[in-house]
Amino acid sequence: MSDIKWLPDGQKTFEKLMAAVPDAMRDTMRPKLLQMLSGKAAGQPVSKKIVEDWVKEDLPEPQRSALMAALGIKDPKAKKEQPVAATAGWDGDSENMFERMLQEVPDMMREVFRGKLMGIANQKAAGGPIKEDHIVEIVKEIVPDPFKTNILKAFATMGGVDLTKVEAVIEANPGGEEVVINILHAVQEEFGYVPKEALVLISQKKEIFLSKLYRLVTAYAAFRIEEPGKHIITLCDGTSCHVKGGNAILKEVEAKVAGNGADVTVEKVRCLGCCDLSPAVMIDGEIYTGADAQAKLAVILN
Ligand code: FES
Repeated sequence: MSDIKWLPDGQKTFEKLMAAVPDAMRDTMRPKLLQMLSGKAAGQPVSKKIVEDWVKEDLPEPQRSALMAALGIKDPKAKKEQPVAATAGWDGDSENMFERMLQEVPDMMREVFRGKLMGIANQKAAGGPIKEDHIVEIVKEIVPDPFKTNILKAFATMGGVDLTKVEAVIEANPGGEEVVINILHAVQEEFGYVPKEALVLISQKKEIFLSKLYRLVTAYAAFRIEEPGKHIITLCDGTSCHVKGGNAILKEVEAKVAGNGADVTVEKVRCLGCCDLSPAVMIDGEIYTGADAQAKLAVILN
């Protein structure tokens, strides 16, 4: 908003706050937040204090707490207000859905959101277990787009996983936390990804917090948490491939998939380990180069 007059510390604080807003939302949120801040400042130059007071006093939860944390403002009520567990437990797939919802929150704000959203879920449950409908309501009421759409889409595709296969993998890997990575690899091998239902079962059987398992599978590029498409195209973003035209292949594949919605999963890696063949593409686990890669991609994408 052009009518805002900044003091240097005010602008710096605002930019720090914007850095905490997820990338996909930043451009949409900036004018809205500036408009709110302009109202708060009421014509005064915006100082650090005005930005901080606006965050503390005017923003709704859970954004208030998350942005206070991003600005390093201590919230004296935070401990009292942040339950960390479902008061009367979970019903159906609700815990799994809760964790899936949190995956859309940037890492630095996830734990603040966890406490706040858990509080809201417990309120909705009114003393009973948190149900799947409560989580869906929270997503619909609180989460902005595009995250809302992503989460609801992910909820719709949950289920349908043969848990006896997961149980067999768990049984084949006796032990505690030290065997979890092996289990996750075996589950991904079995299903092509690590379904949320599998994470819940591993969490129960190995007595490991579900949130910890989610952190693990989302931190390692080797794991997928969404069901892959019919074909998996792994494009190399490494230097050797890049200088030999890999970037053009990457753009072409992305444009085609965006254009025709082909049932494929596109992944990027830093190196496929065959730089002497670059630019290289991996399709369903096989390496292709040159005309072979083009021909195979044409069959899959056209
Ligand atoms: S950089 Fe592409 S295979 Fe190594």
